[in-house]
This record gives sequence, C-alpha cells and structure tokens, in this order.
Amino acid sequence: MSQPSIGSQRARAAVSGLLSGETASNTGTAEPVIRLKGLTRSYRTGAGDVHALRDINLVVQAGEFVAIMGPSGSGKSTLMNLVGCLDSPTTGSYVLAGERVERLSGNALAAIRNRRIGFVFQQFNLLGRASALENVAMPLVYAGIGKRERLRRAEQALNEVGLGDRLHHTPAQLSGGQQQRVAIARALVNHPAIILADEPTGALDSATSLSVMSLLQTLNRNGQTVLYVTHEADVAAFARRIITFRDGRLQEDQPGPNRDAAAYHSNFA
Ligand SMILES: Nc1ncnc2c1ncn2[C@@H]1O[C@H](COP(=O)(O)OP(=O)(O)OP(=O)(O)O)[C@@H](O)[C@H]1O
Ligand SMILES: [Mg+2]
Repeated sequence: MSQPSIGSQRARAAVSGLLSGETASNTGTAEPVIRLKGLTRSYRTGAGDVHALRDINLVVQAGEFVAIMGPSGSGKSTLMNLVGCLDSPTTGSYVLAGERVERLSGNALAAIRNRRIGFVFQQFNLLGRASALENVAMPLVYAGIGKRERLRRAEQALNEVGLGDRLHHTPAQLSGGQQQRVAIARALVNHPAIILADEPTGALDSATSLSVMSLLQTLNRNGQTVLYVTHEADVAAFARRIITFRDGRLQEDQPGPNRDAAAYHSNFA
C-alpha cells in the first residue's frame, strides 16, 4: 500500500499539534458544540411548502464523531447546511459553540462560518487551477491572515493529512483520495469547532473511502468534532454515534460501533 499510514503515531502527534488551538480548549467545557432546539426548515415552492426539517432537537458535544444517515430527501444536507451556517432555520434555535446563530444572516453568518466550521464535500470543491497549498490556504484569506502565515499553516495542514509531498500539485494531478485529503486539510486549517462532511466518501472507491474515514477518525481521536453524512452502513459503522433522519424528522439516535477504519483499510489491500 503506497498511501501513508494515516493512523500512525507520527500522524496522530502531528494532528494533535494542529488541533491544540481553539478546538482542544473547547473539549474540556460543558458547553456543547451544537445545540438545536425545535429547529425547522421549510421551503416555499410553486407546488406548496416543503418541510425539509421538522422540530429537530439535537445536542452534540465537543469531540463527538457522528454519522448522519437516512433516505434521499430526508433532510441530511439541509441539516448540514444549517449546522454549517450556510443557511438559516425557518423556526427554532441554534447555539454553535455558545453563540446564538439562528437569526444571523449574510456577513455575520459568513464570519461565524469561517471561524467555526470546516466543510468537506462529496465532490471535493477544490479550485482547479490552484495548487494544493493555495487551496488549503484559501479560508485564511477570508480570515485576514498574511500570506506567509497562510502558506505556513496550509503546509502544516497538508502534512497532517499525509500530503506534504504534494504541495504544488493541482487537483487534476492528484487522485480522488488525495483530493479529498486536500479538502480535509482545507477544512482543518482554521482549527474549526466542527468538521462537517456531506458524503465525503460518496465519490471514492472502497479502499480510498477507508483511507479518508481513517483520516477523519484520527482527527476525531485527537479532539476534533466531526459530523458526516453517509448512505452506507459500513461507513456509518466507524462513528461513535449514528443519527437517522426520515421525512425531515430525527428518527433514531444510537451509539455507533466505532469500528477502526485504519484496521479495515490495512486489511483491504
Ligand atoms: N432549495 C430548495 N427548495 C425546495 N426544496 C428543497 C430545497 N433544498 C432541499 N429541498 C427539499 O428538502 C428535502 C430535503 O432535502 P435534502 O437535500 O436535505 O435531502 P438529503 O437527505 O440530503 O438527500 P440526499 O441523500 O439525496 O442528498 C427534499 O425533499 C428536497 O427536495
Ligand atoms: Mg444530501
């Protein structure tokens, strides 16, 4: 297997170095990272109202590793968008790391998103003409950090995800799994309170999915709070908690098997 062993001690030590900022200090406090009360999100369409989320009550503590499951259209992405401050609820309250965010919009919401949230998407969403380093440094531009420091932090984040030797590659010069690891480095670079990953393995083959899940699990073991959406029970089985949505409602909230993704990955080859 030519991929770096991302569950290795070295990677863990490096990641815990990266996480030793805001996130680590959140871990000891009683304030949950996410507190949703009576949250709803409806869309008005020509054919009537669509109730994408109905009366969602959910608390996620710092350091949790949560899988979100449910059929297509059940509200998973709507939830991720709300939790990630890309969207605002129709009714209900949302407290993110102690801050009430449900009534914020526009710039205020964007500022919180930039400070608190790291996103990982199914299709990676990397800038095609930019190098891995520039892609990862991008969120720091919006955070107002100088160029030298941006590149230093971006390089550190790429080292954490095992891509220290691919800094100047563009997305087209990287494999799917490597592109997703660049996206994870970009999500990490601001030391977010939460990483939100909407089907992070949806575009990847099985072995590559395992390596991406192993990386997310390593980050979580070092204190990073992670929520990820998946359609696959095998992928959800790496979580310590599994939440299932149906028709916009939170239907089930159960402990997950917390399987070790690195072990599955090394058995796969
Ligand atoms: N902008 C929108 N306008 C109208 N309806 C919407 C909008 N976005 C989502 N919906 C509806 O809200 C419901 C929930 O959608 P959502 O994208 O959250 O589902 P999902 O669980 O992520 O599904 P999938 O597994 O297919 O990604 C669906 O019925 C969808 O059609
Ligand atoms: Mg979705």
